[in-house]
Amino acid sequence: MPLNRKDLLGIEDLSVEEINLILDTAETFRDINQRRIKKVPTLRGKTVINLFFEASTRTRTSFEIAGKRLSADTINISASTSSVVKGETLIDTANNLEAMAPDAIVIRHSSSGAPHKIAHHVKAAVINAGDGAHEHPTQALLDAFTIRQSKKTLAGLKVAIVGDILHSRVARSNAYLLSKLGAHVFLAGPNTLLPRGFETQFANAEGSVQFAANINDAISDADVVMMLRIQLERQSGGFFPSLKEYSIHYGLNSKRLALTKPDSIVLHPGPVNRGVEIESDVADGARSVILDQVANGVAVRMAVLYLLAGGE
Ligand code: CP
Repeated sequence: MPLNRKDLLGIEDLSVEEINLILDTAETFRDINQRRIKKVPTLRGKTVINLFFEASTRTRTSFEIAGKRLSADTINISASTSSVVKGETLIDTANNLEAMAPDAIVIRHSSSGAPHKIAHHVKAAVINAGDGAHEHPTQALLDAFTIRQSKKTLAGLKVAIVGDILHSRVARSNAYLLSKLGAHVFLAGPNTLLPRGFETQFANAEGSVQFAANINDAISDADVVMMLRIQLERQSGGFFPSLKEYSIHYGLNSKRLALTKPDSIVLHPGPVNRGVEIESDVADGARSVILDQVANGVAVRMAVLYLLAGGE
């Protein structure tokens, strides 16, 4: 079954069937990533452009590796080395890239809605690699894939998402995705970083999304704990007194981890600020699946490229 859409702009408008199609397709590509020769001819002759206006280690590298393992021609453009620095607009940039006939454009931008704007102007498939504080759909897909790998199903799981919910595109995409797949999502963080009304967006989901009274309520008996980085680059300041105080009240340490289920897993989208939102012994501990998330990111992005760029 093909993914019957041109673009992947967010999780909000994806159906459960589409989400499961991407996750099931990623299973196939995970097997390929474990082979000695990790390359298939699926996207031979196709061109994928990675257009990154914000910094990235995991997303950009894994999209590049994903494209290359599918035999696509993969080109990376960052804002600092493009004609954006000479004043070219986003739409002019997109139209000029479109003139070179790419099959897919992967875009990360600091403005919410930038990928949607480009998608209206180009024939190529547009994949949102993170737009402002709005969505980061492939991150949520790889998170769900990682949870499914460990827990077999997401239905009925208690998932705590802790940290800077207000500025987090990862939290938003995960709240959509995990609740669509039947998980019960509990959000916690400083009051100043909890967007009021957020939970009402998920009223029709199979699972649920709600604010916990505090971090201990959120993580008590949780099957999954997802810690978020404080998005200092998106904050004007003053949301909490200091990073040290944040760490004491909202950081995940082994004492807090003991409140979760004995077989709970710990996720973090990265980059990790050790000693702020998570202590090193937890980030590197037996329950951490942080590096599994990174490995799974390649398989999930291969699936997305394959399904959107016309793989055979
Ligand atoms: N998780 C994530 O988006 O990481 P990068 O910013 O390194 O891509």
